[in-house]
Amino acid sequence: MKSNVQAWSKDMYGDRGEATAPALWQALHGHSRFRPRYPSEEVVRFLASSGYTNILSRGLDYGCGAGRHLNVLHEFGYQPYGYDVSQVALDYAAKTCPIATLLAGGVHKYQCYFNVAIAHGSLYYASKKHLVANIATIKLCLKRGAKFFCTLKPTCDKRLYLPDNEQLGEGCVRLVSNATNEAGMVMCFLTRDEVAGVFCKWNDVQVQLRTVGSGRDTPFAADDPDNRSMECDWLVTARS
Ligand SMILES: C[S@@+](CC[C@H](N)C(=O)[O-])C[C@H]1O[C@@H](n2cnc3c(N)ncnc32)[C@H](O)[C@@H]1O
Repeated sequence: MKSNVQAWSKDMYGDRGEATAPALWQALHGHSRFRPRYPSEEVVRFLASSGYTNILSRGLDYGCGAGRHLNVLHEFGYQPYGYDVSQVALDYAAKTCPIATLLAGGVHKYQCYFNVAIAHGSLYYASKKHLVANIATIKLCLKRGAKFFCTLKPTCDKRLYLPDNEQLGEGCVRLVSNATNEAGMVMCFLTRDEVAGVFCKWNDVQVQLRTVGSGRDTPFAADDPDNRSMECDWLVTARS
């Protein structure tokens, strides 16, 4: 099992564990359970706090998947643009939000173009180097002062501690266990300080820890070993 998963996930990026191979995403998007229909509460809150906008505003969903947030961008007044590394995902996104512009080949040519951007669950399936490069690319795509929301994975997330993980170094692993339906994925996990470092050139940076299933009603430290059985996310908002 282990060698199959490892071979399966090394098709395009070789053995260096730089990013999750697009072939894995293509396969996953073929299953309906990986195409959630309803938006994440955090994305809705972020767009609501950013206010409604006018028809000339453009919103980018980086790693849009099957497109559940493209309609939300539209509802808040943005012309929706979705980018994804998976063509299968983009094909579903086209059905979910027919008015969206879908970008298959990257976003590099859209410099200073977007009034808002979101990246929900799409940036951390890669090495830290890739993650940093992708966030820098998103910054270049945003107009000056435009807002960005993303989720990142904290070091308290249970995936980092799954026993079969292939260690890739620098807080990065390739998941071998399929306990979270993510076998083969490369994932990187960041401390709060690392998140601050990644966003050091942004303005108005806010970082919140969201946990699911802690059973605690008090705040806790993300690096506390007692907290290593939970689903966690950093919720990051920033201005370019
Ligand atoms: C867990 S899904 C989340 C999809 C969507 N954002 C949502 O919230 O439903 C992650 C998505 O990110 C895409 N993805 C992963 N790495 C990417 C990258 N480097 N560039 C663009 N898309 C990426 C995957 O193809 C997948 O569709």
